[in-house]
Amino acid sequence: MSKKSIGIFDSGVGGTSIFKEIHALLPNENCIYLADSRNAPYGNKSEEEILQLSIKNTELLLSKDCKIIVVACNTATTNAIDYLRANYDASFIGIEPAIKPAALKSKVKAVGILATKGTLSSHLFHKTSDIYASGIKVIEQDGDGIVPLIESGKLHSDEMKKLLETYLKPMINENIDYLVLGCTHYPYLIPILKELLPEKVTIIDSGLAVAKQTKAILKANDLLNLETKTPTISLYSNGNIEVLNSILDNKFETAYLDF
Ligand code: SIN
Repeated sequence: MSKKSIGIFDSGVGGTSIFKEIHALLPNENCIYLADSRNAPYGNKSEEEILQLSIKNTELLLSKDCKIIVVACNTATTNAIDYLRANYDASFIGIEPAIKPAALKSKVKAVGILATKGTLSSHLFHKTSDIYASGIKVIEQDGDGIVPLIESGKLHSDEMKKLLETYLKPMINENIDYLVLGCTHYPYLIPILKELLPEKVTIIDSGLAVAKQTKAILKANDLLNLETKTPTISLYSNGNIEVLNSILDNKFETAYLDF
């Protein structure tokens, strides 16, 4: 049993989609969330830059004595998690695009994946795609511009809708039946995506799977918090705090932190 916090970081506010799943599944757990909005998006940065930012976030969470680190960012996972695992004495949970379940379930053998350039060009993504999606047509789409719109509070804007229309068109033309969301910001787009996609397309994101994996690892290491008192939830942003509050529907206390 451990009362220490679960540490979660993302390039910005998107990883709150993972935080919410973790909090729902593990309501006793104290959590510390870092939104590195000042440096968003990570998706177009070099591998070295993504690594350095991931190290900075990890060290901050470890300095706050977190018992496990959830890298709630696909781009940071695909580019930095191997390094983090090899260099820090901590457990790390990463987020990988759910290409495997989509490829296994697709009836038409055509799936779409919307992710950042950093994720789509990573070795880890290619390895996963080669193993699980051979014989499947994978239509990859770089979601360039989506994260900056979310980070500037323009989630529900005409600009966003137009961008998504453009990105989904090639996938719809290929008749996909599954769309994989390969960025933790994207679950917030689901209502808009549903409007734009044919009804038969199932959208897959990794949030619940990540929460279950976090629980399994804490349990296996006897680190679950068995106390039933209200947990301490600390959500920090080094960017516009209003965007963090708005994405969380003002349901949690947040604070600005210079990191
Ligand atoms: C980004 O910062 O570009 C997106 C983060 C992610 O890949 O989840």
